Amino acid sequence: MSLHSYAFLEKDFVKFEDAKISVMTHAFLYGTAVFEGIRAYWNSEEQELNLLQAKPHLERLLRSAKILRMEPYYSLDEMLDLVIELMKKNKPQTDAYIRPSWFKSALRIGPSLVCKGKEDEKDDSFVITSLDLGNYLDVSKGLRVQVSSWRRVSDNALPPRAKINGSYVNTALAKANSTLAGYDDSIFLTEEGYVSEGSAMNLFLVKGGKLVTSLGSDNILEGITRAFIIKLAQEELGLETEFRQINRSELYTVEEAFFAGTGAQIAPIGSIDDYSIADEKAGPITLKLQDLHKSVCLGKNQKYQDQIIKIKY
Ligand SMILES: Cc1ncc(COP(=O)(O)O)c(C=O)c1O
Repeated sequence: MSLHSYAFLEKDFVKFEDAKISVMTHAFLYGTAVFEGIRAYWNSEEQELNLLQAKPHLERLLRSAKILRMEPYYSLDEMLDLVIELMKKNKPQTDAYIRPSWFKSALRIGPSLVCKGKEDEKDDSFVITSLDLGNYLDVSKGLRVQVSSWRRVSDNALPPRAKINGSYVNTALAKANSTLAGYDDSIFLTEEGYVSEGSAMNLFLVKGGKLVTSLGSDNILEGITRAFIIKLAQEELGLETEFRQINRSELYTVEEAFFAGTGAQIAPIGSIDDYSIADEKAGPITLKLQDLHKSVCLGKNQKYQDQIIKIKY
């Protein structure tokens, strides 16, 4: 992991080492920030960076900010321009990961999202950081995955529909357990016991030749990659996706399973709780979707050029 030289903080581009905030910042004290992870793929032949699905990420960032009662002072288009500008300054020559975030920046004790009587106090700030990033999960093998004993945070407690920094403690607990137990990652169930999603990515199953994925109401983050995989499966492979509640025991007998997310990309699952899936390799449908997705990320798929913004520097 290599951090880029410049960041954007509040209203300025700054050297990364100068992008500092106080230890009394509300977001640090209470996890009151929202963020996005956007990937950019380096096409070495064309010497250009392909920014993947940046607009839907920034739209979700604004929706997350709304849930935390924030008042963003940049529009979608302004944020997009700042992301592009930051990449032009950092000039990565390899795949990159970009993290824009709105955070509660007031220096104050007390977790409330609103500060009555102090409307003039600056409360929300914007930051973008970026780094070089290859694969977050090994996408070349069938991952060993366990069902976590931690349950997914629920909409009435800490809405998973919003990408809220504080809720990533839920991810961290599950991820730590799977690492300590020797697994590559984990799958969350909801409090009701239905399958939700991976620790920080959505889950797809292949069952009866169809894709199956959890409902938005089963406490998933409604992923941008998830939506795109559903589209690719339909348009390119003629595969339907079934959205429904999934029981835990179904996981053990599916034909194929894979994770989908910006960080995770398309990551095949080879076993769940030590039940072998697809001979512990990437199954044929997973492989086709992985190839299609990769071709889009690298800007090599003419049909889906609208998914990327090409940046030259
Ligand atoms: C909890 C969680 N679920 C799912 C996803 C996948 O979402 P996306 O495809 O929009 O990156 C992520 C990653 O951002 C995540 O953190």
